Amino acid sequence: MALYSEKVMDHFKNPRNVGVIEDADGVGEVGNAKCGDIMKIYIKVKDGIVTDAKFETFGCGSAIASSSMATEMIKGHPLTEALSLTNKAVVEALDGLPAHKIHCSVLAEEAIKSAILDYYTRNNLPYDESVFKKIGCAHEHDGE
Ligand code: FES
Repeated sequence: MALYSEKVMDHFKNPRNVGVIEDADGVGEVGNAKCGDIMKIYIKVKDGIVTDAKFETFGCGSAIASSSMATEMIKGHPLTEALSLTNKAVVEALDGLPAHKIHCSVLAEEAIKSAILDYYTRNNLPYDESVFKKIGCAHEHDGE
């Protein structure tokens, strides 16, 4: 079996939503201390809906595929859904990642949460802190 699924290869070779949203409503940047990869996600929010999402990923192919898939999964969806997007759901949507590449998908979950936290903070909106506890701890998820 090939190491990477066709979907991973597709999103790696033709990533969706690459770029910057200049007037973003929320920006999240996270990194993995071990591999040094960095992911930045920009979101636009209107009436509780993520109307647009873009990313810049300085990282491996799996991180690029994960950011591409994750931004596709939140675009046009309510903020609450975007907030509950798990790295597991991203991996499933990509038809799997090798075990040692699961941490790459964790970056996508964390970058989205971080962008949403930024949106909440900018707008002085109340939020549940426990939802954001994971951010910045990507290295703890290695090998999951
Ligand atoms: Fe670090 Fe993929 S190897 S994000």
